[in-house]
Amino acid sequence: SAAEKGGFEFFMDKEIEEQPAAVAQTLLGHFDGSGIVLDELRLSEDDLRTIDKVFVVACGTAYHSGLVAKYAIEHWCRIPVEVEVASEFRYRDPVLNRDTLVVAVSQSGETADTLEALRHARRQKARVLAVCNTNGSQIPRESDAVVYIHAGPEIGVASTKAFLGMLTANYLVGLALAQARGTKYRDEIAREYEELTKIPDAIATTLTLMDPVRKLAQEISTAKAILFLGRHVGYPVALEGALKLKELAYMHAEGFAAGELKHGPIALIEEGLPVVIVTPSPVTDPLLHSKLLSNIREIQARGARTIVIAEEGDETVAPFADFLIELPKVPKLYQPLITTVPLQILAAEIARAKGFDLDKPRNLAKSVTVE
Ligand code: G6P
Repeated sequence: SAAEKGGFEFFMDKEIEEQPAAVAQTLLGHFDGSGIVLDELRLSEDDLRTIDKVFVVACGTAYHSGLVAKYAIEHWCRIPVEVEVASEFRYRDPVLNRDTLVVAVSQSGETADTLEALRHARRQKARVLAVCNTNGSQIPRESDAVVYIHAGPEIGVASTKAFLGMLTANYLVGLALAQARGTKYRDEIAREYEELTKIPDAIATTLTLMDPVRKLAQEISTAKAILFLGRHVGYPVALEGALKLKELAYMHAEGFAAGELKHGPIALIEEGLPVVIVTPSPVTDPLLHSKLLSNIREIQARGARTIVIAEEGDETVAPFADFLIELPKVPKLYQPLITTVPLQILAAEIARAKGFDLDKPRNLAKSVTVE
């Protein structure tokens, strides 16, 4: 009903606006003054300490959250992390043992492939940790440890607030592992948690900056395709931006690692093609920023329409941006919590301009409980 949607046209609109609160809820209660605490932990600190390999398994948007987690966990914990779609993982013969941690990420907690991937992992004696939004669902019930996202019920089929919640919960998992392994000092972990608690405000600010993105969406709604480029944690964001556009606007969209531009995608660049570039901070990541800047110039020189997502105050990108989206500054690893937002809005507004149902995209289900 209209009341349930709180005055918004679609649940998805409401869920996008709820994202600052969702991330705050995910963080709540996970720091007790001395360290990170998980919701349910049927593993000892010793079990966590001996983990020497992590697999993240998930489907769809949840898989993209896992790709981001890899950057954070490897950096903080010095443990190799592989991220794989559950439907591939479960039918390979992945090398697992009791020192392997398999992190199963799922909004619903009922996705068939993710559930079977975790069962496969358990049969091989691996430990399983669930990151999930639905209390008491099957995936957390069959896991050794759980971090609930607490993003609240998500009605829109295309995931938004649960995605930001997953990203946040995955960071907590990384920090908990770093704590158990001693690869980060307690005060560093406290500082990371503190930085995370500032993110909801930065998301709220981001949401106030979205009107120009809505206008842009109207203008590019008739494009044949849209490309998305990113690097480092911006790469999974590019993939997620493309997925949202496919799901909601039924538009051809591809996400690429920007460093691969010359290895194929550049052949797709043509006059007027909208290309969204997720740019890292020139301050915290000057090296990759300079690489992205040269990508943006190459794309613009070939006549494409550059839509640049950049950190506020980044003056170097402006001359090469046909459309510039400036977003609040946050620590490098946490940027996906901010840069995803304009991509959600872009997909939603293009879909709306085309007259599509944002909550129930054709052919898709909220939870895929059969193969
Ligand atoms: C379906 C939904 C996606 C979701 C994926 C994984 O495909 O349409 O939005 O990302 O399932 O769902 P899960 O509940 O496991 O996160």
